[in-house]
Amino acid sequence: MTSKPKHFLSLSDIPASELRAILDEAHARKKARQGLPKGTLDADAPLDGYTVALLFEKSSTRTRFSFDMAMRQLGGSSITATSNDMQLGRGETIEDTAKVLSRFVDGIMLRANAHETLTALAHNAEVPVINGLTDYNHPCQIMADLQTLEEQGRDLKNISISWVGDGNNVAVSFVNAAAKFGYRLVLSCPDGYQVRGQDVERARAAGARIDIIQDPSKACTATDVVIADTWVSMGDTDAQKRMSDLADWQVTQDLMQKAQADALFLHCLPAHRGEEVSASVIDGPQSVVFDEAENRLHAQKAILKYCLEA
Ligand code: CP
Ligand code: NVA
Repeated sequence: MTSKPKHFLSLSDIPASELRAILDEAHARKKARQGLPKGTLDADAPLDGYTVALLFEKSSTRTRFSFDMAMRQLGGSSITATSNDMQLGRGETIEDTAKVLSRFVDGIMLRANAHETLTALAHNAEVPVINGLTDYNHPCQIMADLQTLEEQGRDLKNISISWVGDGNNVAVSFVNAAAKFGYRLVLSCPDGYQVRGQDVERARAAGARIDIIQDPSKACTATDVVIADTWVSMGDTDAQKRMSDLADWQVTQDLMQKAQADALFLHCLPAHRGEEVSASVIDGPQSVVFDEAENRLHAQKAILKYCLEA
């Protein structure tokens, strides 16, 4: 590759028009292959001949399987490895890993502990790098979430999305996408668990509508979408303290009743019923969490095509 590779590291880096085109492509590809067995290629197989490396420093179910199936459906292939399978786990630098893998594969997806590992990989890679979650953000997840809301008939420019709980990596990507897609974002997080002020301020400066309303009942009043995520993310070491600090931010039926009657519930999964969300909400009629999980596949196919296609 001679020109600069097209990375997918943070939604704040990518122009709104390009994100819109990715979402349109995700909808179109999902529709075009309805009813086909999951291993059947998309008719145009746009990534025929391409291979990506899928690298994991921490666990994954959805990201791992959806990226692998995405490459297969697009006509390409993938190679999955955990850092412990690689010399990376024995101290080889991420910079050298980037340079070496760039000689073997056409793109690299990384799930990293530290965001700096991802940016160092991207800085040194000669092929596109895609963020499969870091401690800072999770952009692929939000593209799938927004696809899910649109297929439920929601107009992203005219809805209010309430994030309830820890202002974690997934919350940051909702902040980063707010200016790009136009939704109003309400952040309801306890003290000590807020999204960093600098991320909120940067998004607001770019035109995002973000309100911080700490009380979850007020934050969910008349909202269109309620979102929860785990109280203990991968890498968090203070589980007991988090359980107690976040206890009042559980999404329950009572909380959902503050929202619009047709409000939707999202959760990136994995979920912990009885902690961040009650079983009656996540397994109830307002929940679209399994469509959301499926859309990781469709959204990532569009992201892979955006990054890899010459
Ligand atoms: N939502 C998500 O990223 O799931 P995994 O951790 O299973 O990949
Ligand atoms: N916030 C969670 C998301 C998991 C997909 C974590 O980082 O563990």
